[in-house]
Amino acid sequence: MNIVAFSGSARKESYNQQAVTFIAQELQELGHEVQLLAMADFVLPLFNQDVEASDGMPEIVASLREQFAQAEAFVIATPEYNGSFTSVLKNALDWCSRPAPNGNSDSVYRDKPVALVSASPGRMGGMRSLYQTRYLVENLGMVGFPGMHGIGGCDAETFKDRASFAETRDGKALRKLASDYNGFMKKFAIAD
Ligand SMILES: Cc1cc2nc3c(=O)[nH]c(=O)nc-3n(C[C@H](O)[C@H](O)[C@H](O)COP(=O)(O)O)c2cc1C
Repeated sequence: MNIVAFSGSARKESYNQQAVTFIAQELQELGHEVQLLAMADFVLPLFNQDVEASDGMPEIVASLREQFAQAEAFVIATPEYNGSFTSVLKNALDWCSRPAPNGNSDSVYRDKPVALVSASPGRMGGMRSLYQTRYLVENLGMVGFPGMHGIGGCDAETFKDRASFAETRDGKALRKLASDYNGFMKKFAIAD
């Protein structure tokens, strides 16, 4: 499967970006093509319908939308801000729900599986953001993979060494999530 993986954080040392990078590598090892995107490379203007009507979709948004359109599945690491997902994530999802510059209005999300994780310094590991993001992405037509994982207590050391992280409780949970998501996508793909 061609999987697009990204986080809802543009922060340089983002825990969520590091978590999604870990899962992306696991899925690559399971044989998937994974496009790992960084929202730091997609600095999108805040969506405004008037600006869209007058100026159309900015090139940077169109390039992200095209990556989403090519995706057969998604992995999203969703940071928690004030008990919910970030505006970076919502803004990107909103923009890419709009028609492409060539007028193509096919959904880039519909019927595509999505796995969600979250990472936070807080003890709840972004659990509230996970559930709210699930509601959001399912509303967009994606098919939520039931297994989600929140990594609590993150700090600068958490993801520093991939091999050590892989052996932690959270590392094992992310490996299991990648493996279970792989099984879920296989079942998904064979249905006709
Ligand atoms: C405006 C703001 C609100 C936040 N609210 C929460 C919150 O509700 N729950 C939580 O666990 N962490 C919260 N945090 C802490 C973030 O989880 C933390 O900044 C984390 O590093 C963000 O994810 P990132 O590392 O991927 O950028 C908040 C941070 C900011 C800046």
